[in-house]
Amino acid sequence: MHRIITNEELAPGVHRLVIDAPLIAKARKPGQFVIVRLDQGHERIPLTIADGDAAAGTITLVIQAMGHGTKAIVATPAGGAIRDVAGPLGAPTHLLEQGHAVCVGGGVGTAVVHPIAQALHRAGVRVTSIIGGRDRPRVIYHDELARLGTVQVCTDDGSWGRKGLVTEALAELCVADKPAIVYAVGPVPMMQAVANTTKPHGIATVVSLNPVMVDGTGMCGGCRVTVGGQVRFACVDGPEFDGHQVDFAELRSRLGTYRAFEAQPCADGACKARKAADQILQQQQQ
Ligand code: NAD
Ligand code: FES
Repeated sequence: MHRIITNEELAPGVHRLVIDAPLIAKARKPGQFVIVRLDQGHERIPLTIADGDAAAGTITLVIQAMGHGTKAIVATPAGGAIRDVAGPLGAPTHLLEQGHAVCVGGGVGTAVVHPIAQALHRAGVRVTSIIGGRDRPRVIYHDELARLGTVQVCTDDGSWGRKGLVTEALAELCVADKPAIVYAVGPVPMMQAVANTTKPHGIATVVSLNPVMVDGTGMCGGCRVTVGGQVRFACVDGPEFDGHQVDFAELRSRLGTYRAFEAQPCADGACKARKAADQILQQQQQ
């Protein structure tokens, strides 16, 4: 069991949990994720590690309450526990070693660019973060990223910073202060738009993909994505890939396949992950 030490609401429906996980805290690297399961019969949820403290033996997870499983986790108060936390999983971020890097975070994805910005800053890389949200309350991790470099805030309604999308600020920066690399995490359309923005400038672009995952160890094929015409598994080959090579249309279509399951509550052990796994097996057998 992994004790929840703190549980705070960062934005509407978005919670930051600090949990006991000493082995993961010691081993984790930027870009890696864990798969959590609140209790027996609950779904398995992949979450990128937003931060960690090896000395305290804790990791930080940022969770958006969307389906039954994530709502149950964010509703568990400090002092409660998460039954299973498996990880660290996935390949660590390939970090720029010198020069200027831009980290683009959209909504809750901003928590995932934070450990990348931290590691870049530690390595002496100049970091500019461009972070966005629908409105001011939905912009997260501003203060944490401001400690690591310059931050530009964009909101859809103009309630904080620039009114507009993160890609509009990025397009200007690509000309005014061209970075060597861009790391982007957020909604799939945002990551696709970031890749389209940087491509004409020849700027390397890394995106963190969030396909459906079941086992997280390369066994089930659920997290299959196409990158550069090759089939890759996000859980072991990623989750980060070259944004200019990702087949975003396929990713969006595959994410949509399981939308109906997202809305279904766990009942009688028939949780979303099991149903998704059954469907994947059926598809593979056809
Ligand atoms: P959102 O839909 O409110 O978008 C946040 C910001 O992203 C917007 O304010 C805008 O600046 C930018 N954006 C969105 N669509 C865009 C587009 N088409 N072009 C350019 N910019 C665009 O974000 P949300 O509701 O917080 O959702 C966050 C998303 O991030 C979820 O879909 C979640 O699955 C994803 N996510 C991904 C990971 C990962 O590891 N890949 C981790 C956490 C969250
Ligand atoms: Fe990646 Fe199963 S979750 S192969």
